[in-house]
Amino acid sequence: MESNITWHQSTITKADRHQLNGHKSCVLWFTGISGSGKSTLANAVDYALFQNGIRSYVLDGDNIRHGLNRDLRFSKQDRKENIRRIGEVAKLFVDSGLIVSTAFISPYREDRAEVRNIFSAEEFIEIYVQCPIEVCEARDPKGLYKKARTGEIPEFTGISSPYEQPENPEITIETNKSTIEESVETILSYLVERKILS
Ligand code: ADX
Repeated sequence: MESNITWHQSTITKADRHQLNGHKSCVLWFTGISGSGKSTLANAVDYALFQNGIRSYVLDGDNIRHGLNRDLRFSKQDRKENIRRIGEVAKLFVDSGLIVSTAFISPYREDRAEVRNIFSAEEFIEIYVQCPIEVCEARDPKGLYKKARTGEIPEFTGISSPYEQPENPEITIETNKSTIEESVETILSYLVERKILS
């Protein structure tokens, strides 16, 4: 830690921003293998929140890897750094009063636990986007499973790199069993139940 820097307390607090917005802020941390539906679901939730006048934003793996994290690949270490940075960015968004949805595979339990640790208990909502790999592979929206099978893409999650399922996610969505509308409803109801939204 750099010893010549000190934390500057902001004038406007997170609580002030919550009051202005009329809702609290949190991170909806979507985790699951490629093709499970993380981005689709995160965007559907974001759309529903926006329609209801709630301030929100989506951070998406493929997009962030084009900019902020374009120096990172898919080794265990790079994925760890990817998730660490997103955790920190998500924390800033939560501090700014938004409901931020993150859509990253985030395959390692330990990395997700470290992100959870930088938030208060009610601010971090882990959403396991569960879908059998056979279904994801059949969907293969980006043609990546095909490339992973031939070895063209190394260290591909679920094929040649691990995915560690969440043990205690706040919410589990089985995308091969429920519709997007039902899944959005489940997540919004949770936010109301937890008094993040009124
Ligand atoms: S994470 O493991 O570090 O959380 P992240 O969500 O940012 O991954 O990026 C995953 C996306 O990168 C996938 O949706 C896919 O489009 C692409 N991708 C490219 N190579 C790989 C790979 N080896 N494993 C998983 N996803 C990959």
